[in-house]
Amino acid sequence: MADEKTLDTRVKVHLKIKRFNPETDRRPHFEDYEVLLRAGDRVLDALHLVKWTIDGTLSFRRSCAHGVCGSDAMVINGENKLACVNLIRNVGTHLTIEPIRGLPIIKDLVVDMEPFFAQYRAVLPYLINSDEPGYKERRQSQADRERYDDTSKCILCACCTTSCPIYWTNDGYIGPAAIVNAHRFIFDSRDEGTQERLDILNEKSGVWRCRTSFNCTQACPRGISVTKAIEEVKREILFDRI
Ligand code: FES
Repeated sequence: MADEKTLDTRVKVHLKIKRFNPETDRRPHFEDYEVLLRAGDRVLDALHLVKWTIDGTLSFRRSCAHGVCGSDAMVINGENKLACVNLIRNVGTHLTIEPIRGLPIIKDLVVDMEPFFAQYRAVLPYLINSDEPGYKERRQSQADRERYDDTSKCILCACCTTSCPIYWTNDGYIGPAAIVNAHRFIFDSRDEGTQERLDILNEKSGVWRCRTSFNCTQACPRGISVTKAIEEVKREILFDRI
């Protein structure tokens, strides 16, 4: 464990960032930058320093800066990560940064998230229950709540979906994040939309496209067992059809 003095020591960080300006570039290319940072700073701090002191045209998304909003997913040294929660001392001082894969690039590290959110919306990611709750809350046991606890942690950063090799080659695949969010409601004891969701996920763009590569589980910054959730949905479809 690094002590406070080590974390405060300035280090030279080399960044190789994939850039693309649709108004001037025919294709993306890499540009190199050097900045001085502390080992305890984050990759997001490196990007801010480049943008604020070297090249103000560099574009990337971020909002909360604390791993909550999910807006700054990017490929850092070949792996999908959030720039705001990865420290320089953990990822190293030579960084190659690219936009997440499988979605159209708008500019630099900013991708068009609409196809991703359309797939999310397709699984009906909300509670479906025709009973009028009145003034009371819909209660459930602690065990019932725990059934979908893991998948309720998703922040929709797209790290899982855009790390999936099937998604890269087939944008019709609904992707891990949509399945995780379907799982969150399929296993909610208060929900009545399970059948509809299972029918959607049983289609050719659904769960059967998954080849269990585990990239999604490895990429999730929230530690969700994404592959396990997908397998549970597959089993539910099979169980449901018997
Ligand atoms: S900026 Fe919100 S998760 Fe990183």
